[in-house]
Amino acid sequence: MSVIKVAILGFGTVGEGVYRTIQSHSEELTATLGKKVEVAAVLIRNTQKKRNISENVLVTTEFADILNLEQLDVVVEAIVDKEPTFTFLKSSIERGCHIITANKEMFAHHGKELLELAEEKNVSVGFEATVAGGIPVIQTLRQLLNINRVKQVQGILNGTSNFILTEMREKKQSFTQALILAQENGYAETDPTNDVEGFDAFYKTMILSRLAFGEEPNWQEVEREGITSITSELIEAAENAGLRFKHIASITMLDGQIKATVKPTLVGKEHPFYHVEGVQNAVNVQSDIVGEITLQGPGAGMFPTASAVIEDLVYVCQNPPVNRNLTRSLDVTTEFNKNDKQETWLVHGLIHKPITPSITWIEEMEEGTYVISASSKEVIQLAKQQKNLVYFPILGEYERVNRVKAALKAL
Ligand SMILES: NC(=O)c1ccc[n+]([C@@H]2O[C@H](COP(=O)([O-])OP(=O)(O)OC[C@H]3O[C@@H](n4cnc5c(N)ncnc54)[C@H](OP(=O)(O)O)[C@@H]3O)[C@@H](O)[C@H]2O)c1
Repeated sequence: MSVIKVAILGFGTVGEGVYRTIQSHSEELTATLGKKVEVAAVLIRNTQKKRNISENVLVTTEFADILNLEQLDVVVEAIVDKEPTFTFLKSSIERGCHIITANKEMFAHHGKELLELAEEKNVSVGFEATVAGGIPVIQTLRQLLNINRVKQVQGILNGTSNFILTEMREKKQSFTQALILAQENGYAETDPTNDVEGFDAFYKTMILSRLAFGEEPNWQEVEREGITSITSELIEAAENAGLRFKHIASITMLDGQIKATVKPTLVGKEHPFYHVEGVQNAVNVQSDIVGEITLQGPGAGMFPTASAVIEDLVYVCQNPPVNRNLTRSLDVTTEFNKNDKQETWLVHGLIHKPITPSITWIEEMEEGTYVISASSKEVIQLAKQQKNLVYFPILGEYERVNRVKAALKAL
């Protein structure tokens, strides 16, 4: 039986998970691919670390040793940073290998170039693990929604932020307390900037945008906000209104232009993201034929991420390198997010209620905190006039029953 030879770059959480899964699921891989899958080499940096790798596998710190292997079919990349990763993957494609990456920062910056080079060299690229860990969102968009015209993609794409927001609400903790817990549990890095300031979700959003709409918005024009401004007071005000804060990435097509935002958003009980808690991720896709689909699951971790990589391994070995993402129609115009569209908002810190006929005051939650209906233009204007005002969009229907319920309970 012929063999598929794989090299794994990096042997941290993801690299080790992929290595162990190739061993534990070798029967399924052989049955599916009709060939045995073997790890030929592993690239590491630190030779002092003890690793559980079979003696038959070449373990090296030199990428050249890997490129010089006699047979090499697939290169799985599970290291960090844009470089030297991008260079390693370009060389792998040049050598004629399929590539699979888990590295969202590198892929957000260089994915287009890698996909084009791969097409030219007739090899495939797997990048399922770059977005939402174990949730098969890339393959859903890539393979299962070929004919559907995607109108909007929304997602909770950063498990660390979702964990912190959940802890703050459930355990009444401050942002700092919840962040420390996330670090103790290994969900957040020592420097959590990438997660809590929304950079990680931003990179994933750009990857999804390219896949769903064939291109990305101008990065400078994307509204990116993390969760560091969310206080316990805001969480409580939201809870009193029957709402939960989620850090949501949203990509829509508006008059041929892609609009993307990555920011804290409020959702009500009916919204599919309301019950997405802790380190879970979720992605909601709205498209013209099927309607709305929500996928939910583990957004990170050794085996959820290995699951994404191993399914990609099958994909790259079985599929010709057709870059569906580069050819998807842009001819979708939606009514989403028009500047003058009325939306529902929670505004907090209002000093005085202006007389503006186009703003509907739906409910006063407490002094200075209101649920209103207004266009984004009007809310921005309001925030300009009242310096300490913060405002958050509410997705889905807002149920104006909370106060009534509370009053009835008190009777
Ligand atoms: N962890 C997750 O749940 C998850 C989920 C989805 C995507 N990802 C992405 O997957 C990638 C890997 O994440 P991870 O959590 O597995 O990271 P990690 O645990 O920190 O492991 C990184 C590995 O890369 C190796 N490495 C780093 N720079 C290298 C270089 N220049 N040459 C050779 N090896 C190098 C390290 O080698 P040493 O061991 O020798 O130090 C280590 O084995 C990242 O891009 C991450 O964003 C992670």
